[in-house]
Amino acid sequence: ILEILLKGLQRLEYRGYDSAGVGIDGGNGKDWESNAKSIQLIKQRGKVKVLDEEIHKQQDVDLDVEFDVHLGIAHTRWATHGVPSPVNSHPQRSDKNNEFIVIHNGIITNYKDLRKFLESKGYEFESETDTETIAKLVKYMYDNRESDDISFATLVERVTQQLVRVFSCTELLLKRGGPLLIGVKSDHKLSTDHIPVLYRSSGKDKKSCTTLPRMDQDTCLFPVDEKAVEYYFASDASAVIEHTNRVIFLEDDDVAAVTDGRLSIHRIKRTAGDHPARAIQTLQMELQQIMKGNYSSFMQKEIFEQPESVVNTMRGRVNFDNNTVTLGGLKDHIKEIQRCRRLILIACGTSYHAGVATRQVLEELTELPVMVELASDFLDRNTPVFRDDVCFFISQSGETADSLMALRYCKERGALTVGITNTVGSSISRETDCGVHINAGPEIGVASTKAYTSQFVALIMFALLMCDDRISMQPRRREIIQGLRVLPDLIKEVLSLDDEIQKLAAELYQQKSVLIMGRGYHYATCLEGALKIKEITYMHSEGILAGELKHGPLALVDKLMPVIMIIMRDHTYIKCQNALQQVVARQGRPIVICDKDDYETIKNSSRTIKVPHCVDCLQGILSVIPLQLLSFHLAVLRGYDVSTHHSGLKMIIQSFFVLINNYYSLVGYAHILLHILLKNH
Ligand code: UD1
Ligand code: BG6
Repeated sequence: ILEILLKGLQRLEYRGYDSAGVGIDGGNGKDWESNAKSIQLIKQRGKVKVLDEEIHKQQDVDLDVEFDVHLGIAHTRWATHGVPSPVNSHPQRSDKNNEFIVIHNGIITNYKDLRKFLESKGYEFESETDTETIAKLVKYMYDNRESDDISFATLVERVTQQLVRVFSCTELLLKRGGPLLIGVKSDHKLSTDHIPVLYRSSGKDKKSCTTLPRMDQDTCLFPVDEKAVEYYFASDASAVIEHTNRVIFLEDDDVAAVTDGRLSIHRIKRTAGDHPARAIQTLQMELQQIMKGNYSSFMQKEIFEQPESVVNTMRGRVNFDNNTVTLGGLKDHIKEIQRCRRLILIACGTSYHAGVATRQVLEELTELPVMVELASDFLDRNTPVFRDDVCFFISQSGETADSLMALRYCKERGALTVGITNTVGSSISRETDCGVHINAGPEIGVASTKAYTSQFVALIMFALLMCDDRISMQPRRREIIQGLRVLPDLIKEVLSLDDEIQKLAAELYQQKSVLIMGRGYHYATCLEGALKIKEITYMHSEGILAGELKHGPLALVDKLMPVIMIIMRDHTYIKCQNALQQVVARQGRPIVICDKDDYETIKNSSRTIKVPHCVDCLQGILSVIPLQLLSFHLAVLRGYDVSTHHSGLKMIIQSFFVLINNYYSLVGYAHILLHILLKNH
């Protein structure tokens, strides 16, 4: 059991964390209640390996005993409240007897008020975490129960209702949305492939609130003939996929309860549009799909996957023979989108850069005003949004908090919402009115690479679709579609520059700073290249719009400052040449990323990275790849682990979902794994 939990945590390691912990019950009781009496918590700062060693040091854990009924939980933490330490690691507990234990990811914005309230009632806190307030609040609710037969499900629901009531703001609700799936493993037939969603009574009859719904074949899942079953509650399929590919995705505010091996799902309140059931889905994802292969890191693997990932984005959608584009996810909405007043692209980080990169071609092909917004700033400004706006949410994970909040903001204002997401079943994919899955495959490396190029391609496909009946646009459409046809081969050609770029990295890695300059289609490449360098190499880097050089940034340039310039043969070519002259005049010796046939630039530059030529609006895909490779090699040379970085949580973790069983439970967020084993005997 511990091996399953630790392995599951290791599968999530790529997300970054600073401490880890497990909670296991004593097992071998006849039921959950007796098992729960001996919950043990083992927590450590550092890697999962250190936790593993700590577990093996424990005198009172019998690693050979076999259990018939068992529950364990595990978590990796990235410190937000309180330093990384065993006491601040999860699980957090309600009291010294470990009566209620909890793991969670995300932030409880009102924890200070809750803590003050609970301390005033005599509850003593041991950690600095916000999470501990959940465990203590459950205990408080339990200590003040109106009757002894209160179920744990009811208790947890009350706690969450309390949180919502006290903090009825979108932020908290948002933190409840997020990925949680239940893996079901049983060698035996299951009672159903759809679990109906049950609702509690409205609460007028207080007593009925304290009982769980009926547990029979109409309301819950279990193996027929009561055979053995294992349930895995996890924030990420990669933690469970090696055990089972049968999974149920929970929706916001779902409460999943396991009681005596039976799984039921219920919700506190009925809302319009609720789906009546949750289906057991079969995941197609194979473990090797998410493993590193021969590469030294996921980031490197994903950079080299781009010739295939862009093909997967276009597969079945672009017909290169008759120059047409079909996007199944938009077909019912395209007329409405064509009638809209403006397009707003909203995203964070790299996904935002995909919006910046394609803005010009979107403006050209749709002839609509296009705004590109960072989700956080868009929200801060309370940006006016109207019913005839179409708002795009670009997100690899589909779970980024600010993007999700902005989505809800736009929905409330009646705009049509469109997702460009890589994660089927993610919050953004589910909550948008329509969208396009970019189908780039799981992106595990923390620094986004292949998702960026696939988002880029998806937005181009959308632009092509928007003008497919415009006769005047046909030559341009054909040019772009034929550009898409050759794109995978051109990407391969750029990737073959890897050795050359590695050598360049060896020259640059001891520098403090790198400036990246360009304009037009390549401004986004500058921003994205600089973000990659900052994010994984911890070097200062800045993407500078070449048109702004003379308004300040030129002052940074001298013979020592490393400068990378992007100069391509498009409508900005002459202006970029001017920028090059300005940099050279200040004794700068820029490394120029240019078209391999641009002899003029090659002749005038001391150092060039030569990439193949492509249609102007796709050239940004080819100019960004050298910078992805450069950032990767810089990070390796500087001794950093490219799979973890400052914000390693990748913000998949905005969830506040609740898992319960009848006697004790967990309040979980992402990065958690709960393993429940029930053996028949
Ligand atoms: C779909 C299938 C694909 C199948 C193809 C066959 C899914 C996920 N995709 O792909 O496996 O090969 O039909 O024609 O089953 N959506 C959003 N928001 C988003 C992303 C998508 O609402 O952010 C919606 C779309 O509007 C659509 C659905 O999700 O209703 C699936 O989108 P997508 O996978 O892009 O559709 P297809 O390419 O048609
Ligand atoms: C940040 C990541 O946390 O989220 C970036 O560090 C990423 O790499 C950004 O681009 C947005 O993520 P997503 O999943 O919404 O595309």
